[in-house]
Amino acid sequence: MKILLTGGTGYIGSHTAIDLIENGNDIVIVDNLSNSSKEVINRLNKITKTKVPFYESDIRNKSKLEEIFEQEKPDAVIHFAGLKAVGESVEQPLKYYSNNLETSLVLLDVMSKFDVNKIVFSSSATVCGTPKKLPITESDQAGVGITNPYGWTKFMIEQILTDIAAANPNFEVTILRYFNPVGAHKSGLIGEDPNGIPNNLLPYITQVAVGRLAKVGVFGNDYNTPDGTGVRDYIHVMDLASGHTAALNHSKPGVAIYNLCSGKGVSVLELIDAFSKAAGKSIPYEITDRRPGDIAASYADASKAKKELNWQTVYSIKQACADSWKWQSNNPNGFAD
Ligand code: NAD
Ligand code: UFG
Repeated sequence: MKILLTGGTGYIGSHTAIDLIENGNDIVIVDNLSNSSKEVINRLNKITKTKVPFYESDIRNKSKLEEIFEQEKPDAVIHFAGLKAVGESVEQPLKYYSNNLETSLVLLDVMSKFDVNKIVFSSSATVCGTPKKLPITESDQAGVGITNPYGWTKFMIEQILTDIAAANPNFEVTILRYFNPVGAHKSGLIGEDPNGIPNNLLPYITQVAVGRLAKVGVFGNDYNTPDGTGVRDYIHVMDLASGHTAALNHSKPGVAIYNLCSGKGVSVLELIDAFSKAAGKSIPYEITDRRPGDIAASYADASKAKKELNWQTVYSIKQACADSWKWQSNNPNGFAD
């Protein structure tokens, strides 16, 4: 199968590219490099010993995307492209609605024109809002209590895909709701490389470990969780990657939604401790105020993906920390090194 990856030079797309190639697929990447580096392609070529076709283009450039479809004739699309910074989306909502919705609308239009009927979409745990019960399942109501424009764009795109599938009986949609991706490819050649100060916990920890930042701020220790710090469902990015390959292999007409998660909750202090052990160095931290908009705990039930996609996580938090450390210590300044 030939799969077109929008946003494929980003963190999750680049790791998924490896899993797809290792499982016998051809891929083509389209990315405007707004939040990633062209160096990713060199690294992917090295890891996979192939030459990954890459187009530097904005998905919203419809005529260019049509040319790419004409040239590459993909069988399926994984739609990673999008902006993802929750805080920025609150400050600049239009930028998020514009980029995330327009990329999806243009892409779906071009897919329809070229009769490409299979799509896997990068959604997020955020569409579940503040969960009423844990673990979160796919049948829990989504779209209630979403706290930021980023999350709304994901929920709206889920709805757009659902409506298109209702109108076209050949259309195959898999919505993957990611929980908290962490880790890096075992080669240490690719990994997460956020712009500026990281918003997410593990990249913040790795930048403290490498000396780029002084100490981790732990956002609150008065939550109703075992140690008072926030609990999340961290998933190794290579497990997330194999979830996409499984989703494509099991794709069928209609809409299927899966949580891609480990099923286990890990607190902020537990993650700091796991990283300290994996990297063999202590990580300075201080307890600070809660971050506005954060929830106490989020973890999900992974059994639907296991049953229907025959997929499950294989990597531990320890492995994710070791792999993130290998990536960050080999590339202290990310792809700019
Ligand atoms: P990322 O920013 O590393 O990758 C996204 C890629 O999309 C980037 O390479 C960026 O340059 C590209 N892009 C953005 N707008 C584009 C446009 N208009 N045209 C072409 N390319 C464009 O993010 P990621 O962590 O790899 O996330 C991938 C997807 O998964 C995103 O849709 C994100 O919202 C979703 N997601 C991420 C997380 C997470 O914690 N990382 C969690 C849930 C969902
Ligand atoms: N945290 C800290 N200090 C930091 C960063 C985070 O204590 O410097 C805490 C947070 O309070 C939270 C936990 O670490 O308890 C995880 O925070 P992240 O920012 O890493 O992740 P979130 O769960 O807040 O959000 C992430 C992505 C969203 C995505 C969501 C679910 O940023 O886009 O996971 O997939 F939707």
